[in-house]
Amino acid sequence: VLQLTLAVIKPDAVAHPLILQELHKAILDNKFMIVRCKDLVWRRSDSERFYAEHSGRFFYQRLVEFMSSGPMRAYILAREDAIHHWREQMGPTKVFRARYTSPASLRGQFGLTDTRNTTHGSDSPESARREISFFFPDFHVEEWLERE
Ligand code: CMP
Repeated sequence: VLQLTLAVIKPDAVAHPLILQELHKAILDNKFMIVRCKDLVWRRSDSERFYAEHSGRFFYQRLVEFMSSGPMRAYILAREDAIHHWREQMGPTKVFRARYTSPASLRGQFGLTDTRNTTHGSDSPESARREISFFFPDFHVEEWLERE
């Protein structure tokens, strides 16, 4: 069955046109349908809200700052098993692990650090719904899925 996920190309990758292009190509090569796409810049408060669940972690300030440091690109992607499949393309969060265990993954190829790790992807249908409406408030997941 068709599933939606939210994919984000983070500021470190958007800053490099060739990397941005490679990531966009990876989306198309993997047969994702691009349902929505937009470029945006977060205020610090958007970043804090989106990552609130990490607010106690040592990397929170770093993460919040980074994600509001420049333009990023958000996609709503559709595919069979989209959530799992996009996370598989991204590879592990930590750059060390990505480099050594999944060098062909997007983070394995382009990730700079554990924070500047190129991409984000929803990790469950619940977070996909939350994250899609965070980035695309006018988009209705259920309505879209019913229409398809
Ligand atoms: P993301 O998938 O967007 O979800 C949470 C983000 O926190 C993660 O990608 C990384 O950018 C960041 N993050 C997670 N773990 C660490 C870590 N150990 N050190 C620094 N940043 C991290």
